[in-house]
Amino acid sequence: MAPLHVALIMDGNGRWAQAHGLPRVAGHRRGADVVRELVESAPGLGIGTLSLYAFSSDNWQRPDREVASLMALFRAFLRRERRRCIKEGVRVAVVGRRDRLSAGLVREIERTEAATLEGSVLCLRICVDYSARDRIVDAANLMARNGDRGRDAFVRALGRAGQESDASLDVDLLVRTGGEQRLSDFLLWECAYAELLFVEQMWPEFGRESLSRAIDTFGRRERRFGAVPAMP
Ligand code: FPP
Repeated sequence: MAPLHVALIMDGNGRWAQAHGLPRVAGHRRGADVVRELVESAPGLGIGTLSLYAFSSDNWQRPDREVASLMALFRAFLRRERRRCIKEGVRVAVVGRRDRLSAGLVREIERTEAATLEGSVLCLRICVDYSARDRIVDAANLMARNGDRGRDAFVRALGRAGQESDASLDVDLLVRTGGEQRLSDFLLWECAYAELLFVEQMWPEFGRESLSRAIDTFGRRERRFGAVPAMP
């Protein structure tokens, strides 16, 4: 089977923290530990690409202190994990707008992307200041400027709009934790035929075992892409 593209909407950090009598940022910190654990186990589960929804363009509406702690957490994560990613063959790509990120974070992103470029075991796409709708609009504008038409050209434009070489990757499985059942402007084009799985667990509780169960569930789904089932 071809390596899977799994997308994760990491919801429930705040509620997990609250339930444990901790500040919300403690939930995000614990969430970052889960990311590390999953990056380690993903290749063994047949995953070739992991796309993580770390910060949506709508998340800027959160309190300044929470936004600042999340940005500090992303920066520390990249700095801390870079060496390990190189060693484990993980290519890191940070997807989304960069013009509203701090210069320090952008520097860390660029360093990590450059240092891990050769990684071929897993592609880890961390979506920060990301909006699928904005990205689609950017791609449509690019198409109009170049006079391009058609699906293939659109997919290429979508990649260029996000400065990515392989952004056209269709998602095989999208998992959202935290009990909510919506896409929240994440990978809308790429999820056209994704299997969707919504789980009640909060993100900090979603470890290796949970990801493995999600992949098992995915394996039992019948994907027909609009066709009829195969004859026995
Ligand atoms: C949504 O849960 C979560 C986020 C907006 C942040 C996700 C960030 C992490 C998991 C941190 C680490 C990530 C990386 C890539 C290092 P919420 O806070 O909205 O939870 P709630 O719905 O319970 O309030």
